[in-house]
Amino acid sequence: MRQKRLLVTGGAGFIGSNFVHNWMKNYPDTRLVVLDALTYAGNRANLAKLEEDENFRFVKGDIGDRSLLDQLLEEEKIDTIAHFAAESHVDRSILGPEAFIHTNVVGTFTLLEAFRQSWESQKKPENYRFLHISTDEVFGSLAPEDPPFTETTPYAPNSPYAASKAGSDHLVRAYYHTYGLPTLITNCSNNYGPYHFPEKLIPLTCINILLGKPLPVYGDGQNIRDWLYVGDHCSALELVLEKGEPGQTYNIGGNNEVKNIDLVKMICALMDELGANLPVSPAGDLITFVKDRPGHDRRYGINGSKIKQELGWKPSETLATGLRLTLEWYLNNRDWWEHLLSPEYQAYYHKMYQNREL
Ligand code: NAD
Ligand code: DAU
Repeated sequence: MRQKRLLVTGGAGFIGSNFVHNWMKNYPDTRLVVLDALTYAGNRANLAKLEEDENFRFVKGDIGDRSLLDQLLEEEKIDTIAHFAAESHVDRSILGPEAFIHTNVVGTFTLLEAFRQSWESQKKPENYRFLHISTDEVFGSLAPEDPPFTETTPYAPNSPYAASKAGSDHLVRAYYHTYGLPTLITNCSNNYGPYHFPEKLIPLTCINILLGKPLPVYGDGQNIRDWLYVGDHCSALELVLEKGEPGQTYNIGGNNEVKNIDLVKMICALMDELGANLPVSPAGDLITFVKDRPGHDRRYGINGSKIKQELGWKPSETLATGLRLTLEWYLNNRDWWEHLLSPEYQAYYHKMYQNREL
């Protein structure tokens, strides 16, 4: 069988690095190239265990750099792209949306163009694939009684981040319909697990408990997210790459719709159980309601019937089992996250949370 030659964009980020580890464990003969700009969210240390593997290569670069893309695609004879690279944090998109347009919209367009040219120059081989990893946020916000998002729910993005992801989804869709490029789109719910950058709710809560700092809960804490363990997400993406039908989109969810305040209380209870000598105990005493996020979507929920029926995938972790794995990882990898609390991160944290209490 021909060796698969896979380019993973954003492979030094949270989901991308989990995907790369899982993929190389399951398909060690793949030639796997990571392209990552190493923004504040990218961390080469996430891939340290693979640096000695001769099938693995790391390239620092921007997905908006067309000449670099052309060179890489040709030199490495790339036949498959898993596209994770993005600006991913909603709060940062509210503070400054420009980078989101640069990477999520223009960057995705540049990558699609480079891949299309490479595919056409090879006479459109059938094994080529472009997998675009997107989000449930493109569908907007659900009311309490609404059914969860399906693949045909109309797009209604509400934040600059969600709008930039929606724009990129539309471009990917158009490249299938117009040029026949074999693209696949996945829209998944909130991931959590190892290597999650400290700015996001679950790692932020866990780290603040370990540091004895307040646990900021936006608004009334009643917003709902559908939590998906990152390892489950990666197994779904592998299946989509292997068996998904080009031109299709697949929703991927965790079957775990939970209110933020209940999630934070779950984390506090687990940390009380797992963490030795916490600075503040019980950890729940640190919960602090703060001013809401502007335009904060009330509820996300995924209907995962299509991927279950067509590809036979469903999540294997419950929130209780996945959270335990995650919190144990943060307890055992203190060096990893302490290193990320840089002066730059502290400045962001200060700007975001200073004087925000209700
Ligand atoms: P992340 O922020 O942890 O990682 C993003 C990675 O992309 C980083 O390594 C960063 O350095 C890299 N990057 C950013 N701009 C780049 C550029 N111009 N060129 C090359 N590399 C660049 O993000 P994540 O949470 O791992 O999300 C990965 C993908 O999954 C994103 O497309 C995101 O929209 C999507 N997604 C994430 C979630 C989630 O819960 N985290 C849920 C749904 C969808
Ligand atoms: O739904 C998928 C999306 O999930 C992805 O597309 C995004 O890339 C990813 O960042 C995530 O977006 P959210 O905005 O849902 O994740 P975040 O961890 O920032 O927030 C989760 C919920 O917790 C949300 O309702 C806001 C709230 N929150 C967040 C932070 C950081 C708080 O209450 N306090 C906080 O300090």
